[in-house]
Amino acid sequence: MRRGAIVQLTLLSLVIGGIVTVVAVVPVWLPPTASQQADRIDFVFWYVTAICIVIYAIVIATLLFSAWKFRAAPDDDSDGPPIHGHTGLEIAWTAIPFALVTSMAIISAIVLSRNDATGKDPLRVNVTGQQFAWTFQYPQQHGLTTHVLYLPIDRPTRFSLKALDVIHSFWVPEFGQKQDAVPGITTNLTVTPNRLGTYPIICTELCGLGHATMRSTVIVMKQADFDKWAKTGAKAAGGGGGAAAGKTVFEANGCSACHTLKAAGATGKVGPDLDKLASYAQQAGKPLEQFVTESIVKPDAYIQPGFPAHVMPGNFGSLPKAQLNSLVQYLVTSAKGSK
Ligand code: CUA
Repeated sequence: MRRGAIVQLTLLSLVIGGIVTVVAVVPVWLPPTASQQADRIDFVFWYVTAICIVIYAIVIATLLFSAWKFRAAPDDDSDGPPIHGHTGLEIAWTAIPFALVTSMAIISAIVLSRNDATGKDPLRVNVTGQQFAWTFQYPQQHGLTTHVLYLPIDRPTRFSLKALDVIHSFWVPEFGQKQDAVPGITTNLTVTPNRLGTYPIICTELCGLGHATMRSTVIVMKQADFDKWAKTGAKAAGGGGGAAAGKTVFEANGCSACHTLKAAGATGKVGPDLDKLASYAQQAGKPLEQFVTESIVKPDAYIQPGFPAHVMPGNFGSLPKAQLNSLVQYLVTSAKGSK
């Protein structure tokens, strides 16, 4: 009888464990990984999940088995038999979870410290979060600054994150880790991409009206392609001018996250529609070019009715003069074109 009960309980545990394993493994719950760090995090995740499945199966099987075998008859009002515990069982269900939880802590600590290691020669990228755009600056590539993140494969990249206004959080799901960008301090994150491709960058800290639009893209490329990109990128950032360069400035500074501008394929809805700049300038009673410049440098000088004040970042006045001029020319030209 007792042996029969143990066999039944074991079979029930195996069936439940099998069902739960299918639920855990068959739907693809996690994004594919694209960094060494994400692979390690996935390992910890599945290690913990496997332990959970075993414990869950035993607990649920015991629960169902007890409800089935020891169910009292409807007319049975008597007390249950007095039970004085089982020392062996109690030692087991204390010692085994202790060992399991300790193993999780040790494995997690090893993964955390390895994930933070940068190696001897990491690529350095300064990340700036602001409402509502990411900016990436490459100090080792002549300070090249971009809006889309470019990374070489198989080389550790050390990110230093800053925020200009409120707390943002830098997240590439395929890289496995999130890191807050906090005003006033610098936070760090190490990523070693190990799969070529294009992945989304997401702000994962509610940071204001445009939070949902605070997205960008990371492109993981071969080291040779990255070097080529860095070379041409540094050249383009140094020179140029005029309206064509203005489009690059527009894109590099994330303006499209908040503004609509047909010429740039931008569809942001947080701030004023830049295809209507000419009529806004008229309403503000200012010449178009002066109005556009002022709206970038001192965004709160005139607030277009229907749009919130104090949302446009106030730091675009610090753009290099040439870039600011190109941007203004670009916006003025496209505003005239779309009238
Ligand atoms: Cu930045 Cu949400």
